[in-house]
Amino acid sequence: MYFVIEISMSCSGVTPATSFAVVAGYHNGVRLRANVPRLGVRKRLVMTGGTSGIGRRVVERLLIEQPQWTIVILARPSPRADELQASSHPKRLTLIDTDLASLSSTDRACDEVLRRLDLQGIDALALNAGVQIVSDNASSVDGIELSFAVNFLAHFLIVERLKWHMRTAGRIVTTSSEVHDPDAFCLMGIGRARWQDPIALADPVRSQDHIASIVDRGEARYCASKLLNIMHARHLAHELPTIGVVAFNPSVVPGTKIARDRNWLQRLGWRHVMPPFAPILPGARSLEHSSSDLLWLLTEADVQSMSGNYVDGREVQSGSKESRDWVKIARAMEVGRTLISKRLHANEFAPTQD
Ligand SMILES: NC(=O)c1ccc[n+]([C@@H]2O[C@H](COP(=O)([O-])OP(=O)(O)OC[C@H]3O[C@@H](n4cnc5c(N)ncnc54)[C@H](OP(=O)(O)O)[C@@H]3O)[C@@H](O)[C@H]2O)c1
Repeated sequence: MYFVIEISMSCSGVTPATSFAVVAGYHNGVRLRANVPRLGVRKRLVMTGGTSGIGRRVVERLLIEQPQWTIVILARPSPRADELQASSHPKRLTLIDTDLASLSSTDRACDEVLRRLDLQGIDALALNAGVQIVSDNASSVDGIELSFAVNFLAHFLIVERLKWHMRTAGRIVTTSSEVHDPDAFCLMGIGRARWQDPIALADPVRSQDHIASIVDRGEARYCASKLLNIMHARHLAHELPTIGVVAFNPSVVPGTKIARDRNWLQRLGWRHVMPPFAPILPGARSLEHSSSDLLWLLTEADVQSMSGNYVDGREVQSGSKESRDWVKIARAMEVGRTLISKRLHANEFAPTQD
């Protein structure tokens, strides 16, 4: 009788994954055993927002717990990025220099991802990077309102460049938030957005300009970008029926760096006071909890069966009424495409300064 057992071997996530099928059995009463390299099990995650907070924890866990995965992170240079790279084997983790606040930087990073892809393609794409700017009318390198540019437009471009390289049954998970919905409870009392045409949302002055307070306006811009994330996921689910695309709500997760643009007292509370209480605060989740949910969506969940949905933790929810408005969704996608082609085109032909 012959039998096959599959095992994975790796050393604490710091060496390249080696996976073997152990084939064993008996022949003429002699036990035979062979380790056969198991082909085709390698998986690849491409992600943004892997250097800090929720995404960082996902990366750390994936490196340790699932040796068949290799990770490519699109990240800007920082001590966090250096530390992450130094702590893992270069064959398991690649960081590609990317400023999501620049379309040309993001575009170049996608070229680099494609250059490094072999025939295997991408199993999971995590669009997790995010900023919440509450101190001024900040704009990207391309002159686009910063939360719109980083949270939505850069991710839109990444998907446009990489979507045909997704493996069949692959998955795209974009990190959104409950604050996309004006009626949803949010522990932090974040001010919500009013719908504007996405051309106005992309404008650093006109975006949410009915709001006088710069803090409230910044919060509303953030909420609008998180609505666009869900609209993007719904659109992609229709466009790409062979893969699964969802928008993920991590809930309120204190302790991350998302509050970096707040005043010192708020940063202190967010970083150091709130985290121990997260498991018991209504509407909050611990970093461990939310990163487990995101890891599950990226590696285990049947995302195809949820495709096009807004997923709160691990539970499919309807999302706001606006997030299901197909006229607004189509308009948001049209504006995304137009802005990218105009800005990238403009940059390509802009005179260079020596
Ligand atoms: N924490 C929450 O309560 C909460 C709630 C709902 C939704 N979310 C969403 O969850 C996601 C992760 O947030 P988090 O709380 O983990 O925040 P975080 O700790 O601030 O992480 C944000 C990530 O985005 C990256 N990023 C920001 N701007 C970038 C740029 N221009 N170029 C490249 N990378 C950039 C950061 O890179 P650097 O390390 O270089 O800064 C970092 O890796 C975000 O999409 C956020 O909107 C968070």
